[in-house]
Amino acid sequence: MTALLDVEGLAKHFVAARSVFGRPKAYVKAVDGVSFTVEAGKTLALVGESGCGKSTVSRLVLRLIEPDAGTVRFEGRDLGALDDKQLRAFRRDAQIIFQDPYASLNPRMTVSQILTEPLALHDLVPASRRRERVGELLRLVGLEPRFARRYPHEFSGGQRQRIAIARALAVEPKLIICDEPVSALDVSIRSQILNLLRDLQDRLGLAYIFVSHDLAVVKHIADRVAVMNLGVIVEMADADALFAAPRHPYSRALLSAIPVPKPQAKRSRIVLEGEMPSALNPPSGCRFHPRCPHVIARCRTEVPALLADGSGHATACHRTAELPAAGNIVPADGGFSPVLEKLVAAFSGGMEGADRAGVDLNSARPIAG
Ligand SMILES: Nc1ncnc2c1ncn2[C@@H]1O[C@H](COP(=O)(O)OP(=O)(O)OP(=O)(O)O)[C@@H](O)[C@H]1O
Ligand code: SF4
Ligand SMILES: [Mg+2]
Repeated sequence: MTALLDVEGLAKHFVAARSVFGRPKAYVKAVDGVSFTVEAGKTLALVGESGCGKSTVSRLVLRLIEPDAGTVRFEGRDLGALDDKQLRAFRRDAQIIFQDPYASLNPRMTVSQILTEPLALHDLVPASRRRERVGELLRLVGLEPRFARRYPHEFSGGQRQRIAIARALAVEPKLIICDEPVSALDVSIRSQILNLLRDLQDRLGLAYIFVSHDLAVVKHIADRVAVMNLGVIVEMADADALFAAPRHPYSRALLSAIPVPKPQAKRSRIVLEGEMPSALNPPSGCRFHPRCPHVIARCRTEVPALLADGSGHATACHRTAELPAAGNIVPADGGFSPVLEKLVAAFSGGMEGADRAGVDLNSARPIAG
């Protein structure tokens, strides 16, 4: 079956400095050979520290910027080969919501105008029915239709994010990229917005790319997770497999940093030494090697390929097969800090940590070079 979205070998290098003659002198390797798929109705989370390239991947997927290499296929069609009309149709199918809804909503437009604009642009609903459709969209995101007359500044942060979601839904998309959609919100509001996104996914069959630096949030929304470090994916797996037994030393470090409610519970904490290297001059070999507690000589020179086992759990590390199982990085009861507990409580169906030890790379296949 064709994936809704199929990204292969995507790369984007920004010019960071030019010579006096205007020639590029230095590049930021923001995205450097990223491959993944997103199935219809499912959520892929892109996680990693600030600057690892998550938003650049999002912009490349939406064709808001042109890639230097690689392809993006939506429903089997190469976006690079689309003409203007086809690209407009794709822009209807794929939407984005951002961290700061206030910045993305025009303060001089009423909610009604904000929601009517995409309806008119794509000629989706006859003018006589647009008011009714605005009311439906507001109800869909848990707001009252009478709010249509108000301006963005009259709403709370959570309500504004609901309006941004309603605007994305107006064009009946198949894919929504959620770029840190709850990072700017209070924890109590976060769970409401995440619940809304999940509910909308169930009802409308939406697919999400969920961008976040916060693994606690990702744990409860993602079907699959791709962990990024300095422009490359270092691990990609089903969410329950990744949280039960992360394999890449970087994923393990990120997971071990999630706060837990019972600090006395037996748990390994991995503290990464040193500063995160810059994407301007990424380290040779494995880009994680300057901070990796398991580094060996080979890591400094040889780029590890992203290799998947038979279950689709992919890791880019020379030592995947020989590293001990992750053990108690994520507490077995799935508990988090009291603050995050509130967030966790909003979701049903935890992901109990099946004890998966060892990695079978016999059936390994390359995902990306
Ligand atoms: N237009 C641009 N010109 C030059 N460099 C850029 C540009 N956009 C992004 N970058 C650089 O590319 C790298 C990746 O940036 P990106 O915004 O994709 O990271 P991110 O993972 O989304 O980070 P954050 O979590 O802070 O949002 C960073 O080093 C950033 O400074
Ligand atoms: S390849 Fe080497 S440096 Fe990179 S994560 Fe694996 S052990 Fe660490
Ligand atoms: Mg970003």
